[in-house]
Amino acid sequence: MSPRKRFSNLSLWIALFGLIAVFSMAPPAVAADQCVSCHSDAAWAVKNKKLFDYYQQWQGSVHGLNGVTCVDCHGGDSRATDKTAAHGGALAESNPKSAIYYGNIPKLCGGCHEDVYRAFARSKHAARVKELDGGPTCVTCHGSLNTEILSPLKIASVCERCHNDVTGNRPNIPARAQAVRRDDQMSAAFLRWAGAYYEAVGQPEEVAPLQKQLADLRVAWHTFDLDRVQGSYEAIVKGLRERQKAIQRAKLEEKKRAARSKAKKR
Ligand code: HEC
Ligand code: HEC
Ligand code: HEC
Ligand code: HEC
Ligand code: HEC
Repeated sequence: MSPRKRFSNLSLWIALFGLIAVFSMAPPAVAADQCVSCHSDAAWAVKNKKLFDYYQQWQGSVHGLNGVTCVDCHGGDSRATDKTAAHGGALAESNPKSAIYYGNIPKLCGGCHEDVYRAFARSKHAARVKELDGGPTCVTCHGSLNTEILSPLKIASVCERCHNDVTGNRPNIPARAQAVRRDDQMSAAFLRWAGAYYEAVGQPEEVAPLQKQLADLRVAWHTFDLDRVQGSYEAIVKGLRERQKAIQRAKLEEKKRAARSKAKKR
């Protein structure tokens, strides 16, 4: 090794130890998220209940648990301790420049949920949101902060807000949506059963394509082409029924074979 190279290696090591020393002396403190610090103040529970409720909902939500914080959706400066400085620009949902303004919500959520956004953008719902004319946004169905996925029991009541006899806008939709969600849950449960079987016999790849198909459908939901989505769920369930029969046949064959070899031995 040339002396020069050895020297550069040595300086590299020194630099590295230097760095380690610096870090162990003064661990870089993770900057506190000032939005969370201030909004979580228990005093808001009596002084500004709405403010406190938003924080509470976020805290237990899938976003709160996965590190998606206030600034990710609202913008502002999460290091500023002063309210005005932290809030920065447009915040209130009534402000058309705000990320949480009605017409801007699909884009906000779509920034991270891109595939869902693409499916949603193809729907009539999206077109009506774009025209600021009564289409549901992501938040209408998922909530802004606790981001629930509507169960078959709850979904009808959400669709019904707009699809009912009074509006005359496709009043059959709530019942349809409930039926599709049921099929969806049934195929998921059936697939878990089949998945466990194939896992146990060492062939998990047998159900992988169906699992992928089901995941794609969760996204395709957002086109609100209910006929197509329901048809696909039915196809998954049909495919699984056939597999179930094949599994049962295989088990029966196995039993017969065992009985025959037992008879031979006698
Ligand atoms: C020092 C306390 C404090 C900090 C820091 C703070 N907020 Fe606020 N925030 C408030 C108060 C108080 C309100 C109620 C409205 C008001 O007084 O302006 C509020 C209101 C809001 C609103 C509702 C909009 C409105 O106009 O009512 C949003 C959204 C919001 N804050 C988000 C954030 C985000 C995002 C951050 C961090 C980037 C943040 N806040 C940092 C205290 C704070
Ligand atoms: C996943 C995105 C997202 C995250 C994360 C998020 N919010 Fe929001 N927030 C929204 C949306 C969308 C709305 C508007 C719709 C609504 O009011 O339900 C909203 C509304 C609000 C409002 C009422 C605004 C108004 O004009 O009345 C407050 C206050 C608020 N959020 C505070 C917070 C705080 C504090 C945090 C962090 C602890 C937070 N939000 C995290 C998306 C988010
Ligand atoms: C900064 C990125 C980000 C933004 C913006 C964002 N999300 Fe999320 N979202 C996530 C992450 C991360 C998760 C948790 C992991 C996952 O399920 O992908 C999640 C999970 C979800 C889930 C649960 C999915 C499940 O399978 O249980 C829903 C529903 C959801 N988000 C809806 C929304 C809505 C509605 C908005 C807009 C108000 C939004 N998200 C904005 C990142 C984001
Ligand atoms: C009219 C109601 C409705 C609207 C509007 C809506 N969703 Fe959904 N979303 C659903 C339903 C129902 C499901 C569950 C579908 C399933 O499990 O088959 C779902 C599932 C999801 C999931 C979970 C997907 C997964 O892979 O597990 C995410 C994330 C999500 N939606 C985000 C969004 C975003 C972002 C928007 C806006 C661009 C949006 N949704 C608009 C009803 C809606
Ligand atoms: C906030 C109001 C609102 C909610 C909530 C809502 N919708 Fe809609 N929906 C509309 C509007 C507006 C249209 C478009 C009507 C038109 O232009 O003909 C529409 C149209 C539709 C269409 C026809 C789409 C097409 O391409 O022909 C379907 C299907 C649909 N909605 C399903 C649902 C389902 C399922 C739910 C519940 C999970 C739901 N909607 C919730 C407002 C809503």
